[in-house]
Amino acid sequence: MYLWEKLRKDLEKVVGLEIKDSDFGDFTAKSFNKKPKTILKKVKLPVWVTSEIKGSYINFHINWSKMGQKIIDEVQKKDYGKQKQGKNILLEYSSPNIAKPMHVGHLRNTILGISFVKIFEFLGNKVRKVNWYGDTGTQFGKLILAYKLWGNEFELLKNPTKEMMRVYVKFHQESKKNESLEDNAREVYKGLEEGNKEFTKLWKKFTKLSLKEFKRIYKILNAEFDNYDGESKYSDMGKDIIEKLKKKKLAKKGEDGAWIVNFDNLSTTIIQKKDGTTLYLTRDVATAIDRKKEYGFDRMIYVVGPEQILHFKQLFKTLELLGLKWAKECYHVYYGYVSLPEGKMSTREGKVIFAEDVINESLERAKKINKKVAKEVGLSALNYSILKVEPKRDIIFNWDEMLRLKGNTGPYLQYSAVRAKHIFEKAKISDFKWPEIEEEEKKLLRKMAQFPQIVENAGDQFKPNLIANYAHELAEIFNSFYEKIPVLKEVHKDKRNFRLVLVKSVHNILEKAMFLLNIQVPEKM
Ligand code: ARG
Repeated sequence: MYLWEKLRKDLEKVVGLEIKDSDFGDFTAKSFNKKPKTILKKVKLPVWVTSEIKGSYINFHINWSKMGQKIIDEVQKKDYGKQKQGKNILLEYSSPNIAKPMHVGHLRNTILGISFVKIFEFLGNKVRKVNWYGDTGTQFGKLILAYKLWGNEFELLKNPTKEMMRVYVKFHQESKKNESLEDNAREVYKGLEEGNKEFTKLWKKFTKLSLKEFKRIYKILNAEFDNYDGESKYSDMGKDIIEKLKKKKLAKKGEDGAWIVNFDNLSTTIIQKKDGTTLYLTRDVATAIDRKKEYGFDRMIYVVGPEQILHFKQLFKTLELLGLKWAKECYHVYYGYVSLPEGKMSTREGKVIFAEDVINESLERAKKINKKVAKEVGLSALNYSILKVEPKRDIIFNWDEMLRLKGNTGPYLQYSAVRAKHIFEKAKISDFKWPEIEEEEKKLLRKMAQFPQIVENAGDQFKPNLIANYAHELAEIFNSFYEKIPVLKEVHKDKRNFRLVLVKSVHNILEKAMFLLNIQVPEKM
C-alpha cells in the first residue's frame, strides 16, 4: 500500500470516521453524530498530523517536517504508482466491421481501449488484447453481389473501403427498382455460408483489404492487438451452443420455427433463425466460452458502444444460464456519443463521421500551431479530449479548445512536462535537509501523493478520465508553483535542492500519467 493511503487508513482507525482527501487541509472528515470537539478529545492523534475544526468537519494537516521526506522519497521512485494486481484480463476493443469505414464511435472505442490496456498493465495485470471484427451477416451477400455487378478491381485496390461502400450503396439504390436483387443477394449469402469458392475468395479479399486499412489507423493511434478474430470464426461453435441450450431446455422453439431463449427480466431473444443459421448473440456466446478455454482469463472486458447494452446483458445472462460461474467476471464497458460542432467539419456521406477524417483534422490543425511537433500535439489533443470525459458521457468536439496550449488539454500536459524537464535537467541536484516549506509546495506534495490511488480507481472503475483530470490539476498546481516560487534562482541550498526534486517528481508523475493516456512527451515545445 502506498504511503498516502496508509496515512489515511491509520487516521480512519484512530478517529473512527471516513477520511477523505481535501483541498483545505491534507485530509478531512465529516462528523455526523458527535461534535468534532468531543471526538478529538477522546483520540490521540499520531505525531505526523494536527487537526483543525471547521463546523462539522475536522481538517487534518500533515506535519511536513515529519512526513515530507518519506513522501518525496516515494514519489520520486521510477515505478511510483505501479501495483501487482496480478489478474489475467482479456480486453476486447475497437472491433469494427469489414467493408465499412471506422467511424468516430470506433475512434472513441479504440482510444479508450488503448488507455485501458496501459492502465491495467501498469497496475500489474496481464492483458490479452483482442479485436473481434465483424465479417459476417447478410450484408456480405449484398456486397459480393454488388461487387460482381458493378465493382472495379483497380479502385478496390487503390481505395478499398471507398469502393466497397460505393457498390454497397449502389446495391440499395438499385434494389429499390429491382426486387429480385434482394433474393439474389440472399442466395449469394447462402452460397458463401456453404463454401462457394468464388464468393469465399471475394469475401477473403474484402476482409484482407479492410484489415489493412484498420491497421493503418491503429498504427497512427498506437493501438495493438494480440489477436484479430473474425466473428465468422465462431459460427460453427455457435451451433454447438444452440444444441446445449436446447438440451438444457433453456431454448424453446418459437411458432415460426426459430429457437428462442427466455430471460427472467430481459426481453426474449432468438438464438437460431428458422433456416438454421446462427445469430450475433450465439456467436458471442461461443466466443466467450472459447476464450475462457484458450486463455483462462480472470476477467473479460468488452469495450462496445451503448447500442449494445441489452445485447451484453443477454450474453452474460446466457452464460450464467449455461452454468458458467465466470459470467459475473464479464463486463461491458460502453461509452457516449461523439459529435462535431455543426458546420465545423463536413462529413463525406450523410451523418457518419469517419475516424480517419477526425484524426487528419486534428493533425492538420496542430500543424498550424507547431510544425515541428504537429504529430505529437495533434494526437495528444485528440486522445486527451476523449479520455478526459467520463466514458458514459457524450462528447462534442471543439477543435479550438482541444488544441489550446493553456486549458484542460493534452497539449497543456505536454507543455507542462517539457517545462518541468527543462528546469531540472540543467541543474545539478544534491542532497538536502528538509527545509521550511511554502503552501504551494505542500499543495504539490499532497497532489503527488494521491497518484497511486487515482490510477487504481481509474482501472477498477474503467475511468481514464480520473487520470486525465488528475494530471491536469497537477500541471496547474505545478505551473502556479513555478510562477510564484523561485527554483533555479533560489539561493538557500536546501530549498533549492528540495524544489528541484519537487519539479523532477512532478515530471516523473506527469510522464506516467501521460503514458497511461497514450500521450507522448515531446523533446521540446
Ligand atoms: N462489430 C461490432 C460493431 O461494430 C462490434 C462487436 C462488438 N463485440 C462483441 N463481442 N459483440 O458494431
